[in-house]
Amino acid sequence: MPGRNPPPDAALPPAGPWPITAAFGSGGLGVAGVAAAELAGEHGTPLLVVDEDHVRRRCRTFAGAFPRALYAVKAFTSRRLVRIAQEEGMGLLVASGGELAACLRAGADPARIAFHGNNKSDEELELAVATGIDLVIADNASELARLDAIASGTGRRQAVLFRVIPGVSAGTHSFVETGELDSKFGTPIPGGLALRAVAQAALAPALELRGIHAHVGSQIVRAEPFLSAVDVLLDFMAEVRAELGVELPVLDLGGGFGAVYTDERPPDVEEVAAAMLDRVAEGCRRRGLPVPEVVVEPGRAVVANAVLTLYRVGSVKEIPGVRNFVAVDGGMSDNIRPVLYGARYTVAVAHPVRRGAPRTVTVVGKHCESGDVLARDVDLPDDLAPGDLLAFAATGAYGYSMASNYNRLGRPAVVGVRDGRAEVWLRRERPEDLDRLEVDPEGDGSARPAGLTSRAEGGSIPPQSDTEPGRRTAGGPGATSSREAEGRAL
Ligand code: LLP
Repeated sequence: MPGRNPPPDAALPPAGPWPITAAFGSGGLGVAGVAAAELAGEHGTPLLVVDEDHVRRRCRTFAGAFPRALYAVKAFTSRRLVRIAQEEGMGLLVASGGELAACLRAGADPARIAFHGNNKSDEELELAVATGIDLVIADNASELARLDAIASGTGRRQAVLFRVIPGVSAGTHSFVETGELDSKFGTPIPGGLALRAVAQAALAPALELRGIHAHVGSQIVRAEPFLSAVDVLLDFMAEVRAELGVELPVLDLGGGFGAVYTDERPPDVEEVAAAMLDRVAEGCRRRGLPVPEVVVEPGRAVVANAVLTLYRVGSVKEIPGVRNFVAVDGGMSDNIRPVLYGARYTVAVAHPVRRGAPRTVTVVGKHCESGDVLARDVDLPDDLAPGDLLAFAATGAYGYSMASNYNRLGRPAVVGVRDGRAEVWLRRERPEDLDRLEVDPEGDGSARPAGLTSRAEGGSIPPQSDTEPGRRTAGGPGATSSREAEGRAL
């Protein structure tokens, strides 16, 4: 089925997969009053464009709808985003020492950070305890024992939640399904394993057991899986109280709230929140349990629709009777999701409008893989030509954060836009960024082929300092240009 693309000459209301300030008009796509063509010219492509107002609104929505909402930074980690999430009332969920360190460097308050993961190293647990983060979400009994030993070694008591497997299906892609028993995450409730571990946590001298945690999956577009998880978890909390005499004040229901990529219609956050909180209150009343503080951990639903990716068309190729290919200057290195999960995206032309009639094409990347397809069978104007710009909607979650350097492409730049202004959040990765990892027995760069000199030396690699994050774009001293793209193609 061809993708549902907006007609190129229509002014669209801010709905569906696009950022709330995105508008399509005769001048092409604009976000927060900044023309996509201008952004692409200034910063090169591929380019991630973040609608800052959209992100802020999503953070406020989650923070207002739930007693406590943590932004799962794995969806997209940048200092700006970490700060925005906290400014707008969210805490943070990290999945590794690297994410924790990034949040701390962004100035995050450790007292609002939780750390989950199925295989945290001793070093990661030590960092968590030493920095005084609020919650460690322990995955299994052996991790509880290690954490207890680490915390007692520092003389601290670490607050923990224990992650259980509720045995609930999220009805989503199998790679992001985590609620069923055959899962590497958490400890199953059936068979008593979770109960034994919770008893261990309650007795551990250096741990303060606050509650239980579950995450049933990702890209869930109905309320039911969350509600089924509530039922199972409240049953378990009742069992914990009956068997161990322990009442748990926190119930963490994980993330997984769905985003709109093409024609999904996830319920409003407020609606799901009300249904979940009602179910918790009512379930506690029936079981005679005190109502716990409900925590959620959305990642995708905060950031996916706030971001779009701009690509420049490099070639248009028609294989008669087979397929029309449109190749762009990024691909599976900046968005692995179509290849990995069969994810579908909404695509539109972003350049000033011409009058092409729709025709079905497949948008592919520039990588050396036939599977490097970004959007299969989408309708785009038949006058699409090299140099044109395409915009992919809803690329904010798990695109940049799962990006790679396959074929030695650098990661794209990320710009935030707000009130007619653009700021670089993350500069484009350049060849010399990757070269920095080389351990070269010949010395410092003597193996560099002739011609690959920096622009400062009269060559074509731009020097490091001209796209430092935080510089203003439009004509300012930090303005970058499509020269970056040249550096990238070397
Ligand atoms: N909490 C826990 C314990 C998680 O494992 C995850 C995501 C989240 C919260 C946030 O989930 P979200 O609200 O973003 O769905 N790479 C995949 C998604 C992997 C999700 C991993 N865990 C994708 O691109 O679809």
